[in-house]
Amino acid sequence: MAVIKFSKDIEWGTATAAYQIEGAVDKDGRGLSIWDTYSHTPGIIRNGDNGDIACDSYHRYEEDIQLMKELGIDIYRFSVSWPRIFPLGKGEPNRKGLEFYHRFVDTLLENGIEPMCTLYHWDLPQSMQDIGGWGNREVVDAFANYARVMFEEFGGKIKKWITINEPWCVSFLSNYEGKHAPGNTNLQLATTISHHLLLAHGKAVSQFRDLGIEGEIGYAPNGEWLEPFSVQKEDIDACNRGMGIFIEWFFDPVFKGKYPDFMLDWFRKKGITLPIEENDMETIHQPIDFVGINYYSGSVGRYKKDEGLLDVEKVDIGYTKTDIGWNIYPEGFYKLLTKIKNQYGNIPIYITENGACYNDDVKNGRVQDDNRINYLKQHLTSLQRSIDSGVNIKGYLAWSLLDNFEWTEGYAMRFGLIHVNFNTLERTRKDSFYWYKKVIKNGWISM
Ligand code: BGC
Repeated sequence: MAVIKFSKDIEWGTATAAYQIEGAVDKDGRGLSIWDTYSHTPGIIRNGDNGDIACDSYHRYEEDIQLMKELGIDIYRFSVSWPRIFPLGKGEPNRKGLEFYHRFVDTLLENGIEPMCTLYHWDLPQSMQDIGGWGNREVVDAFANYARVMFEEFGGKIKKWITINEPWCVSFLSNYEGKHAPGNTNLQLATTISHHLLLAHGKAVSQFRDLGIEGEIGYAPNGEWLEPFSVQKEDIDACNRGMGIFIEWFFDPVFKGKYPDFMLDWFRKKGITLPIEENDMETIHQPIDFVGINYYSGSVGRYKKDEGLLDVEKVDIGYTKTDIGWNIYPEGFYKLLTKIKNQYGNIPIYITENGACYNDDVKNGRVQDDNRINYLKQHLTSLQRSIDSGVNIKGYLAWSLLDNFEWTEGYAMRFGLIHVNFNTLERTRKDSFYWYKKVIKNGWISM
């Protein structure tokens, strides 16, 4: 039996996002977001689900915080719904929206849980979309203004901030692949958006520094690992591009002040340009306090002409998959973290999301989700391998506290440590909840 001991100073947590759990979409003056529009468009979301009620955490946050306390987490990562603060994206802030998050954050603090606040986890105010969404630089400025209001309001209380969650999803998945709101399929637009998101991140960081807010700020790009099918150069290059669109594209501008040449060349060949204006790169290239990494899966990839945007084909070589169909690939987690350290130096890293989809149900009051426990064990082992290899890991946040609205999969795909019955909204602790509680308490696992 192997025992894996975790570093003592690691902070443990869980994560969620506003639209996925809050519900209460028309409460206290909240405006519409693109996810309201998208999820109410017939035929898009599995089973016709939407986030109108979700886990109803807007009303049940006290119960949820008691569960977090029982679990023993140090940090809770949540996101703020921009349209609760600015129903139209800009203008006058909505006091009631701010008050909700005050009550929520105060309750976390009273229970000894540190809030980690994500400013943008995909619920763009619909009125911002109506003027072109993230493709319009005015939206970048509206975001910076929203960020400033949040810093002024919650500075000192919230000490960990994340600007943007998974900019790849917001740009390429949502506006080129058309798989998330708003569902566009335009490569030039998606690339423009990727730049605007980085700029929005940079502008928010500038505001944070100018206001002298106490605490740390970072962002949370997607992480995914692609292992070349062979040592042939074309397979290696294809995988570098496949990862490049997640990692280098969104890291180099922040940490090096420029976009990576190998990706720029690729986009140029496709006739795509970047709308870089004077001082943009300086704004983006500012020191940040940490980077958040979300990691779920990895694959084997090889070169295939005209396959997707990057001529890379994912090859199914028979990895075991979670219920959402994603490969279980814990080595990729270790490799990704060491790659980031090798390329970008000793940046403090929070794992802001990691977890598995298993759709086990409640039987006799119990949810036996051994598969999730196994997944978490494997990934925590990779995490400790990375720490022992010198990666500067500050914390680990499991996705997710609760089963929730899994975007286009609706309520069919469950990632929670706590089961939610979406008819009664009853919460049931899964076996993984008790298991994670022990990990947090003991600081080790055995394999
Ligand atoms: C997102 C979450 C999502 C999770 C599982 C991440 O990409 O940030 O909102 O629920 O993956 O799909």
